[in-house]
Parts: sequence; C-alpha cells; structure tokens
Amino acid sequence: MNYLLSKYPEEIEAILAKYPPDRKRSAVMPLLYLAQREDNSVSPRDLDDIAEILEITVTDVASIVGFYTLYHDQPGGRYRLQVCTDLPCALRGAETFLQALCAALGIGPGETTPDGLFTVEEVKCLAACHRAPMFQVQGDGDIVYHENQTAETALQVIEALRAKVSAEAARQNQEAA
Ligand code: FES
Repeated sequence: MNYLLSKYPEEIEAILAKYPPDRKRSAVMPLLYLAQREDNSVSPRDLDDIAEILEITVTDVASIVGFYTLYHDQPGGRYRLQVCTDLPCALRGAETFLQALCAALGIGPGETTPDGLFTVEEVKCLAACHRAPMFQVQGDGDIVYHENQTAETALQVIEALRAKVSAEAARQNQEAA
C-alpha cells in the first residue's frame, strides 16, 4: 500500500497535474516537501512511496534528499539551525562559530536539544560565503538566513524562537482554559 498516496490523494493529484505525464519525475521535490510536512523528515517509506508514484528508483529520490538542505532523512527539532562549514565559511571562522553554538545549546552537531526545539546541522555552501559565519533556520515552513554571526547574535535568534514557542503555548493554554 502506498501510504503517502492514500493520505494525500488530492494534493498529490494536484502536484502531478502540473507536469506532463512523461515528465512526472520532475514532481519529486514537491512530493518530498509534502512527505516531510508531518514530522519534518522523509522516512524510508516516503522514499519508497514517492519512487512508486513517479516510477523512478528509490536511489533517485534519496539522491535529491541527500543533495538539498531543504530535505531531511533524519527526524530533528522544530527548528534546524544549519551552519555552513564549507571552506570559504571555514576561513571566516565557521568551525569556531559552530562549536560555540553547540556549546551554548549543550549539544553536538547533528543532535537535538532535549526540549525538541533545536537541531544543529553542518551544511555545505548556502551562497553567503562572504558573510560568514552564517546559518539558516528551517522551521515553521520558513527558511531564514542569519549572516555575519557570532555565538552571541545566534543565541539572540534562538532566544527569540524560544520566546515565540512560549507565547504560542501560553495562547493555547488560554484558549483551552
Ligand atoms: Fe558557506 Fe558558501 S561556503 S555559504
């Protein structure tokens, strides 16, 4: 059974309708985006389902997940803090920045904070090489760049996100009361 197709039949039909039948493999990116909507990662079952829908190999689908920082093959926090440590950024202190960020959060690269809010990831070039250290935040359906960073400015970003989450929780508690 194709779980993805049974769960999102209308969305998938709408996505496929945008491509000629002989070019439907081009729908791989929107389908991956759909697949990771639920828990912010693409599971092996999602890879199988997408490959079946598009009549391509699982390896084809997995290669897209591996190439783009937008897609994730491992579960993570609500916010992914993606630090570029590619060579140009490394020359501007990205490694030191990454270590300071991880130390401040009490986790290592690839790990998630115990509250499930933040995952720190090392990524390749995000096209902000001359404004390193830099990181992008993926979460809440958005991607936000932060450039010319220090551990202190990054922590300000993190605290703002924590405050947002707290405000949301307080509002939901109020509505439930
Ligand atoms: Fe880091 Fe380009 S090398 S953004």
